[in-house]
Amino acid sequence: MILEINDLVKHYDDGKEIVKAVDHVNLVVNKGEFVAIVGKSGSGKSTLLNLMGGLDRPDSGEVIISGENIFQLKDDQLAAFRRQKIGFIFQSYNLIPSLNVWENIVLPIGLDNRKVNVNLVEGILETIGLQDRKHSLPSELSGGQQQRVAIARAIAAEPAIILADEPTGNLDTKTELEVMSLLKNSVDKFGQTLLLITHDESIAQMADSIVHIEDGRVV
Ligand SMILES: Nc1ncnc2c1ncn2[C@@H]1O[C@H](COP(=O)(O)OP(=O)(O)OP(=O)(O)O)[C@@H](O)[C@H]1O
Ligand SMILES: [Mg+2]
Repeated sequence: MILEINDLVKHYDDGKEIVKAVDHVNLVVNKGEFVAIVGKSGSGKSTLLNLMGGLDRPDSGEVIISGENIFQLKDDQLAAFRRQKIGFIFQSYNLIPSLNVWENIVLPIGLDNRKVNVNLVEGILETIGLQDRKHSLPSELSGGQQQRVAIARAIAAEPAIILADEPTGNLDTKTELEVMSLLKNSVDKFGQTLLLITHDESIAQMADSIVHIEDGRVV
């Protein structure tokens, strides 16, 4: 088991009403599993994913990743844990414009004072079809190619889990399916665990399991 969520709660009080964004969620994810998270807009998917990744703290409950109860960590410890163990892929690719493809991919590894596994990165680039674009800047790439770089960056850091919030939301349908199958191939090949939010039923069908969220609850 790589991820365990116990009775996780995050409510927002806007002064008028309480929004139960995450409402007593329990979840277990095994290593190497691909889990799709689906649900209507506003059902709490992003809030849940952000809590899983330690980007936000809950009102109550636990998130345990690789045996670490992450909210028992202090802020600076949690930031370090996140850097080492969690890979994020967002809808906006979040690449550094002044760095080329290779530099973007290895940046988080360097920030963590770890040694870059050149063979692994080369293998990921090949899997994702960007082996001949190593020296390109993000501005020289299409949206789909930029998202593939963001995927390569997440996998190359060898995190315990990869969390993706609608990573293909900015892409057209054809590119979306291409990028998704590359992402799926890569996580399979490199033994990664993936939790991915999607609106798209055909993408959810690629996953090993589907978690449905409704009003902050798993249904
Ligand atoms: N920082 C915040 N302050 C107040 N309310 C918030 C905050 N973040 C989220 N919410 C509320 O919590 C609920 C869940 O939001 P969330 O962003 O998790 O939904 P979502 O399922 O990701 O939706 P979408 O599919 O549109 O991205 C919504 O009602 C939202 O308005
Ligand atoms: Mg969202």
